[in-house]
Amino acid sequence: MPSVFIKTYGCQMNERDSEAVAAQLVAKGYSLAPSEAAADVVLLNTCSVRDFAEQKAINKMRNVIGTARSERRDQIVGFMGCMAQSRGRELVEKLPDVDLVLGTQKFHRAAEYLDELLAGKRAKIVDTAAEAKSEAAIREHLLNGSAKTAVSAFVSIMQGCNQHCTFCIVPSTRGEERSRTIPDIVAECRELVARGVKEITLLGQIVTSFGRRDIPAVGRAGSPLPAAMASDAVTGAHGGTRPAISAFVQLLNAVHEIEGLERIRFTSPHPKGYGDDLVEAYARLPKLCESAHIPLQSGSDRLLKLMHRGYTREKFLGIIQKLRAVQPNIGLYTDIIVGFPGETEADFEQTMSLCRAVEFDNAYIFKYSPRRDTPAAAMENQVPQEIREERNHRLLELVNEIAARKYDAFIGRQVQILVEGPSKKNAARYTGRTRCNRIVLFDGSPRHHGQIMDLKIQRTGSFTLYGDPAIVNL
Ligand code: 5AD
Repeated sequence: MPSVFIKTYGCQMNERDSEAVAAQLVAKGYSLAPSEAAADVVLLNTCSVRDFAEQKAINKMRNVIGTARSERRDQIVGFMGCMAQSRGRELVEKLPDVDLVLGTQKFHRAAEYLDELLAGKRAKIVDTAAEAKSEAAIREHLLNGSAKTAVSAFVSIMQGCNQHCTFCIVPSTRGEERSRTIPDIVAECRELVARGVKEITLLGQIVTSFGRRDIPAVGRAGSPLPAAMASDAVTGAHGGTRPAISAFVQLLNAVHEIEGLERIRFTSPHPKGYGDDLVEAYARLPKLCESAHIPLQSGSDRLLKLMHRGYTREKFLGIIQKLRAVQPNIGLYTDIIVGFPGETEADFEQTMSLCRAVEFDNAYIFKYSPRRDTPAAAMENQVPQEIREERNHRLLELVNEIAARKYDAFIGRQVQILVEGPSKKNAARYTGRTRCNRIVLFDGSPRHHGQIMDLKIQRTGSFTLYGDPAIVNL
C-alpha cells in the first residue's frame, strides 16, 4: 500500500487536521513514511496567517519537487489547509507539478482523492468548495499504531470565525463560524479517554464563540460566587450572583463530567469571550487547567479599534485581574502584532506598558504582514519594514526578560505535571507539562508515561523547567 508523509505548518488546529488526515489514510491501508524522500505521497498542510508561513510551504514544495519527486515521477505531491483554501488553483498554476490542492472543508476526502490520483484516474485535483457539516466530518485520531497511547489529545469543537479582525485572513481560509454539538464533542472526548487520554485541548479559531447561535445561554444558577469573585470590583455588574452560562462554558461543564479525564485546556479564545461565567469556571472546575492564551494584539485603544477587536485596554486588564483573583498562579500567554498600519511610537508604547503591567508568562510577537483581501492591507500608513523589525526586537526583549524572571521564580517550587513521554531531544529524559502549561523535563522511565506527578523544580533552561521527582514522590 502507498506511504504518506505529511508536514504541518502553523497552529494546533493544523496539527489536529494533519493527524486526522493521517488517521484517515492509515485506516484506508496507507502507511506513514519516515521522510518525504521515502514517501509515495507528500502533503504539506499549510498556514496563511502571515506571508512568511506561505513562503515557507511554497519553498518546501519546490524543494520536494526538485529532489524526491524528480527521482520518482510517480510521487504524488499536494497542498492542503489554509493556503490551499485561499490560493486554490493559483497554486497549480504557479507550481504545475502539484497534483492535489485540498481546502479546509475537504480534509475528509483526502483518501478518496489520493486513491484517484495514484490510480491515474485523474491527473490533478483542486477542491476548495464549501461543504456543509464539514466541521463534524472527521473525528479519527491516530492513537493505535503508535508505540504508546497519546496522553494528550486535540478535539476540534468549531470551525471558522466571524470576528473579522481587519488584519486576519482566517475568515476567508476557515469560513463562517460553525460549531459541533455538545453531545457529539463529548462522545469524541469519552472515546479518547477510554483509549487512555488524560488531557484534552478543545480547539477552534474562536472557541469562546462556540455554539453562540445555536445553543442558548442558560440562566443564573443562583448560588453565590467564589469569595475571590464576590466583590463588585472583580465581577462588575454581576455582583455576587452567578452570570448566565454561555454555550462554551456549558461545553466545558459537560466535558468536565467525563470520568477519567484529568485536564481540560482550550485554544484560541477571544478576550470578549471572558465573561464572568468563564472566569468563574476557572474557580469551579478543577480539571480546567489554570492557563490561558488570550490574544491581546495591541495595548493601544486606537489600534484595537482599527483592528476591529471589540475590547479596550482597560477591559483586557480587567479580565486579567479577574482571572488572577480566582487563580493567582494562572499561566498567561498572548499574541501581539507590531507594526499594524498607522501604529505610532505612542501606540507601541501602550503595548509595551501593558506588557509591563500584565507580566505575561510568554507572548508570541508577530510583525504585521499584509494579507490579501483584508481591510488592513488596504489601509494607508503601512509601517516601514525596519520599524516593524525594530519594534519586534524591543518588545521581544521586554517579553523575554519578564518570561525569564517568571521561569526563575519556579526554582524550588512544587508543580504537578502530566507526563507525556520521552523528550524528543534526549530519550533518557521525560517530559510533561504543568497545569499552567510549562514544559518540565526530568529523569523518567516508561513507568511514568501518562502519570500525574508532583515534582520540585531545580533549575530552568530556555523555556524549560527541570524537576526532580525523587524529592516529592518518595
Ligand atoms: N500579520 C501578523 N500577525 C498576524 N496574526 C494574525 N494575522 C496576522 C497578520 N496579518 C497573528 C495574531 C494571531 C496569531 C495567530 O497570528 O497575533 O493571534
